[in-house]
Amino acid sequence: MQTIKVELAERSYLVTVGSGLLGSANAAIAIPPATAVLIVTNATVEPLYLQSLKDCIVDAEIHTLILPDGERFKTLEFWTKIIDKLVDIRATRDATLITLGGGVIGDLGGFAAASYMRGIRFIQVPTSLLAQVDASVGGKTGFNHPSGKNLVGAFHQPVSVLVDIETLKTLPGREFSAGMAEVIKIAAIRDAGFLTWLEDNSKNINEKDPDTLISMIKRSIANKAAVVAEDERESGVRALLNFGHSFAHALETLTHYEEYLHGEAVAIGMMVASRLSEQRGLCAAGFNRRLANLLQTFGLPCEMPAGAQAADILGLMKLDKKVIAGSYRLILPSAAGRGLIDSDSTNEQISAAIVASQAR
Ligand SMILES: NC(=O)c1ccc[n+]([C@@H]2O[C@H](COP(=O)([O-])OP(=O)(O)OC[C@H]3O[C@@H](n4cnc5c(N)ncnc54)[C@H](O)[C@@H]3O)[C@@H](O)[C@H]2O)c1
Ligand SMILES: [Zn+2]
Repeated sequence: MQTIKVELAERSYLVTVGSGLLGSANAAIAIPPATAVLIVTNATVEPLYLQSLKDCIVDAEIHTLILPDGERFKTLEFWTKIIDKLVDIRATRDATLITLGGGVIGDLGGFAAASYMRGIRFIQVPTSLLAQVDASVGGKTGFNHPSGKNLVGAFHQPVSVLVDIETLKTLPGREFSAGMAEVIKIAAIRDAGFLTWLEDNSKNINEKDPDTLISMIKRSIANKAAVVAEDERESGVRALLNFGHSFAHALETLTHYEEYLHGEAVAIGMMVASRLSEQRGLCAAGFNRRLANLLQTFGLPCEMPAGAQAADILGLMKLDKKVIAGSYRLILPSAAGRGLIDSDSTNEQISAAIVASQAR
């Protein structure tokens, strides 16, 4: 069992990573005596891990809310269901909300914790690789609005995060790969040594060797924690974590969230961004190829679909939250382990990179 500290002054917290952490009393989910606990999970994860999470909690009155599984339920309606449940159980300001599941449950439950009585204690128990390496750390919570993903939300840091890699045994392979896209993302823009490590350890990662997975998840979280500690509210360096995401969000919207998992869209987005960077001479030739090789090792897609028109992608990117004063704000790799914020790419340059990234 190992811990990583997210340094945020009085809001600092520990992320505990290990194998087999669920199932017995665990300090990471210590609950103040005589207070209420609401566990929010979904119908897929509940039969797998709810009981072993409950076994970690001593001396508390535990309530449970089971939501349907899927991004399409990350909405106002299901946020209301969590609030209704908190009201039902007469939760007071000292209550604790625990999310057990992937990023959807973490984001939605986290926002209920952020907003109920202006904020209650919140613990994340992420069970998907994507949530373990990315979504559960950093305090971004929220839900989707029909006109935009994560359009409503708040920053609300958890008091602790518990990552049990045993849960990855039941995670579908495609979801595991999608999580790898976010691991590769953070290595690509922040940690050149980690990028090489991923290349060297891909076989063990694909075989889910426990020690390799723990090292990988810890290093991803440590990188993210450092970024969040430096820039909690994304006024600067935290934007680098959006590498590949402007293109990914546009592609996800264009395909109505039906074709690609988020991580898959991010993989394609990183391909376009790194190609653009190479074409503009902002990073050395060959980085795009190197990333493609690594993404493919984990079964991730690397090409824009042939049917995706550059003009449509650009149009959707204009609606993205990250657009400031009309110019695109893209994260481009500048070298292995380094990224930059670019607002100078023209429509033509971006279109050319999209077209060059298309499947033929
Ligand atoms: N807050 C953040 O900083 C942040 C960062 C990245 C992504 N996100 C959000 O996270 C969401 C995506 O997260 P995700 O990829 O975890 O999706 P998800 O929550 O939909 O989980 C993926 C699927 O795996 C299932 N699952 C989860 N753990 C499992 C397990 N151990 N065994 C079997 N099945 C399991 C889920 O039920 C779901 O069907 C998006 O809504 C995205 O916006 C948030
Ligand atoms: Zn992402």
